[in-house]
Amino acid sequence: MSVSFNTKHLTPFIRDDEFAAIYPQVAAAHEQLEAKTGPGNDFLGWMYLPRDYDKEEFARIQAAAEKIRSDSDVLVVAGIGGSYLGARAVVEAVKGVYHNELEEGLKVYFCGNSISPTALNDIIALCKGKRFSINVISKSGTTTETSLAFRVLRKLLEEEVGVEEANKRIYATTDRARGTLKQLADSQGWPTFVVPDDVGGRYSVLSAVGLLPIAAAGIDIAELMQGAADAMERFSVLSPDNDAYKYAAARNILYRKGKQIEILESYEPNFALMNEWYKQLFGESEGKDNKGLFPASCIFSTDLHSMGQFIQEGSRNMFETIVNVKTPAQDLYIEELEGNFDGLNFLANQNMSVVNRKAMEGTILAHTDGGVPQLLIDVDDLSAYNVGYLIYFFWRACACSGYLLGVNPFNQPGVESYKKNMFALLGKPGYESLTAELEAKLK
Ligand code: PA5
Repeated sequence: MSVSFNTKHLTPFIRDDEFAAIYPQVAAAHEQLEAKTGPGNDFLGWMYLPRDYDKEEFARIQAAAEKIRSDSDVLVVAGIGGSYLGARAVVEAVKGVYHNELEEGLKVYFCGNSISPTALNDIIALCKGKRFSINVISKSGTTTETSLAFRVLRKLLEEEVGVEEANKRIYATTDRARGTLKQLADSQGWPTFVVPDDVGGRYSVLSAVGLLPIAAAGIDIAELMQGAADAMERFSVLSPDNDAYKYAAARNILYRKGKQIEILESYEPNFALMNEWYKQLFGESEGKDNKGLFPASCIFSTDLHSMGQFIQEGSRNMFETIVNVKTPAQDLYIEELEGNFDGLNFLANQNMSVVNRKAMEGTILAHTDGGVPQLLIDVDDLSAYNVGYLIYFFWRACACSGYLLGVNPFNQPGVESYKKNMFALLGKPGYESLTAELEAKLK
C-alpha cells in the first residue's frame, strides 16, 4: 500500500480498547463530513476534488505549464500560506530541494511569502535579465505579502519586456469571480485559474493553486491527482481499518492523555517543506478555542543533533509522527576505505539508505524508552503519485481530528488579529482609531 499508518510502536502508549472506545466519535466525525452537517461544511470541496476536479481547467493548466517551460527561464510564484506551501512542498518532495540547481531548463522560485526586503531583492536578482513569467496566487486577491511582491515583479517584467508581452507572461490564480486580482487580471487579459469557493487555502494544493507551479516544475500532475484519487477512495470509507481515521484517533487519544505537541518527522531533507505544509494544515485547522495539538516538525538525523536531547529527556508533553519513506529517490553505495582512517568501515559494503534506516529504528526505540509515543506513517517513496496519496491521507485525518477535538477545522479567525494591528501601525485608511492605542502600547 502506498501510504499506511503503522501502530506497531504505539502499544506501550495506547491500548486496543482505547481505539475501540473512540471509534463511535470517529464514526460521528465521518458522518458529519459525508453529510456536510459539521461546522465549516461550506469548505468541503477538497473531499472529492481528486475525482471531481474541473477537467477543462486541468488541461489549461497543463498547457500553461508547457508554455511557461518553453518561453521562460524562470517562473516566479507569488503567494503565501495556503497559496504557497503546498506547491513548494510537492515540488521539493518530488524533485528535491536542489532541483533548480541540478536541472537544465525552467527555474521555479517562490516569493511573496514574507515581507523581507532581502528575500524580495534576491528574487528580483534571480529574475533580472532572464525571460521570466509570474504566477500570482491569492484567493482573496488582497493579501499584503503577495500583493506587494507581485506589484514589484510585475513592474520589473513590464520594464523588461513591455506591457503587452508582460500581460502574456502573468498567470493569476484567484477567486472565480470576485476580488481585485480577478478584476485586474480580466482587465489586462491575463490567463486566470480558479481557487474554488469551497476549498480553503490549506486544502488547495490540488487545485490550480498548487497544480500550475507543480506542473511548471515538470511534475506529472495527472500522477499526483491519481494518487490523491486512490487515497480518496480508500480513506473516505468508514471502517476501523481506515488508516487516516486511525491516525486521527491516535492523535486525539494522546492529546487527551496530556500530549500537547506532535512532531512530524522525516529522515529525508526533501520532506522539509511537506513538514511546513502539514504545520499549516493542522495548526490552522485545530489551534482554536484554546485547544489543539501544537504541530512541530524535525528532519532527522539532522535535528537529532539539536532537538534530540529535548525529545529524549525534556518535558514529556509530545509525541512523534515519523513519515517513513521506504525507498529514497536515490541511494549511495558505501565502499570500503583502505586503512579505515575514519573508522567507518563497519558501514561499508551496503547502501547508505540502510544506515539511514538503522538510525530511524534506533531513534524510535530510544525515544520510546524516553516515554515519547511513536506513530509511523509508511510511504513507499516520494513519487508524485505517493505524495498525492499522502496529501489526501493528511486531509482526511485532519478533518476528522478537528471534529474529534470539537472545533471547526475549516476556519482560521485568529489570523486576522496581526493583520489588523499591522494595518493600523502602517496607517492604512480605515484603521485610524486603533493606531494611537497601539502606538501607545509600543512606547
Ligand atoms: O489558509 C489560509 O486561508 C491562509 O493561509 C491563506 O491561504 C493565506 O493567508 C493566503 O491567502 P490568499 O490566498 O487569500 O492570498
